[in-house]
Amino acid sequence: MNIIIAENYQDLSEKAAGIVAEEVKRNQQAVLGLATGSTPEGMYAQLVKMFQEKKVDFNSVVTFNLDEYACLSPEHAQSYHYYMHQHFFEHVNVRDENIHIPCYNDKNIADSYLEYDRMISEAGGIDLQVLGIGGNGHIGFNEPNNYLHTHTHLIDLSEDTIEANSRFFDSPGEVPRQAVTMGMGSIMDALKIILLASGKNKARAVQGMCTGKITTNLPASLLQLHRDITLLADKEAASLL
Ligand code: F6R
Repeated sequence: MNIIIAENYQDLSEKAAGIVAEEVKRNQQAVLGLATGSTPEGMYAQLVKMFQEKKVDFNSVVTFNLDEYACLSPEHAQSYHYYMHQHFFEHVNVRDENIHIPCYNDKNIADSYLEYDRMISEAGGIDLQVLGIGGNGHIGFNEPNNYLHTHTHLIDLSEDTIEANSRFFDSPGEVPRQAVTMGMGSIMDALKIILLASGKNKARAVQGMCTGKITTNLPASLLQLHRDITLLADKEAASLL
């Protein structure tokens, strides 16, 4: 595992944007796997800036987001559809038809989620996957458990995640209890992965991810098995390494 320790959040965001921009310059038709949450906000801001300065062009890029809450409409201010448009898509030139974000199906027909993996395969697979990490070691919304799913699926969010994400909602009761997420197999299939981690509350998960035993109880630890993974952490997140 390649480990880059950034000076601070700004440095982390610039470095992450630099890696994404390099990938897109190298391959204009790059397939990007994208994450939401607080951590990549600065990276998206940097990428928007680079686009405005004509340093990067997303015209032929294809994107697949990792996850989406169940039961929130795409217009809901806390949905990941809304987040992605607000932080990134509205400001750059990714074509609408090239944007993919998982969608909840209220009948929970498992097969319909597999369609998302089929679309990823048909696009040629993910070239660069951007990840964040939960304080409990989740990746996407693959939560710690005795087993993990390979493909895109509907998942019950853990109490830790509901509590952590309640900061975005008016009250904890409003946080959705379920989400649709790419599975660990879909994530591990990416050719290259960068995982962004910022802040002290991520230090233990980052430690487990890099030096702990590989276990489904810390989904990020499975990334030790990936051939091309870079951890991009600020000093606080890297403090236990
Ligand atoms: C979101 C996602 C999640 C977040 C994680 C960290 O698309 O995949 O795994 O990366 O929950 O979230 P923040 O960055 O808000 O701490």
